[in-house]
Amino acid sequence: MTTQTTEKTLLGRAALVTGGSRGIGAATALRLAREGADVAVTYVNGKEAAEEVVRAVEALGRRAVALRADAGDPDEAASAVSAAVRELGRLDVLVNNAGIGALGPMESLSPADVDRVLAVNVRGVFLTTRAAAAVMSRGGRIVTVGSCMAQRVTGPGGTLYAMSKAALVGLTKALARELGERGITANIVHPGPTDTELNPADGPYAAGQAAATALGRFGTSEEVAETIVHLAGAAYVTGAEVAVDGGHAA
Ligand SMILES: NC(=O)c1ccc[n+]([C@@H]2O[C@H](COP(=O)([O-])OP(=O)(O)OC[C@H]3O[C@@H](n4cnc5c(N)ncnc54)[C@H](OP(=O)(O)O)[C@@H]3O)[C@@H](O)[C@H]2O)c1
Repeated sequence: MTTQTTEKTLLGRAALVTGGSRGIGAATALRLAREGADVAVTYVNGKEAAEEVVRAVEALGRRAVALRADAGDPDEAASAVSAAVRELGRLDVLVNNAGIGALGPMESLSPADVDRVLAVNVRGVFLTTRAAAAVMSRGGRIVTVGSCMAQRVTGPGGTLYAMSKAALVGLTKALARELGERGITANIVHPGPTDTELNPADGPYAAGQAAATALGRFGTSEEVAETIVHLAGAAYVTGAEVAVDGGHAA
């Protein structure tokens, strides 16, 4: 006879999800809550959407808070962590999800474009992670959202975005080595084309992206969130790159 377990893997844990008002971040916040975690989400413009995520988490019986914190601002990237700890009492899981795209031929990208993308996608992740690692105890989990474009680029126009996401691979591997002795893990999830406002499955470049995957389709935010949350509960995986990309890298 098989027995079904309903044990929640993250019961009593507290998580911070950057960019948790919609898309992959919102799906991750909800899945973390379903596994028993309290959740703080950051946003920049989407106050209403972030508050909706908070209500959905609370409906699952967990505590939640929405924090306005621009990952591109060095002070806000770090202070999101202290605000989350103040609200939730502790921090066990950090999901570095906030990220922006900037596609186009190199000639079309200004120095300001380069600065903004690196500020949000790289510097913000570094500063939030550093602040989180400082307050995490043994068992802390850091999961960063990279991109399939850190592993394989199938067409032109991705220089800046791919560069920013590839930087997070180096960060993740070095973090695993730096935090391993404290029992804290760091991993990176590479989503393939995922149907969100950033990259709608009916957008102008969608058909080519779907065709570049082995499965021939976009993923959903929930499919990416499933792996992020798995890593948030995994004790013996660190420094790993996990593709949730429908075979984009195959
Ligand atoms: N969708 C894809 O195909 C795909 C593929 C590979 C990787 N990714 C990566 O997955 C992550 C999530 O992407 P998504 O598709 O879910 O994006 P999305 O639908 O555009 O959602 C982005 C989220 O991040 C927040 N955000 C944006 N800029 C921010 C900033 N400066 N500081 C804090 N929060 C910020 C947004 O909040 P507001 O609503 O307040 O703006 C929103 O909650 C990103 O890192 C992206 O690069 C996505």
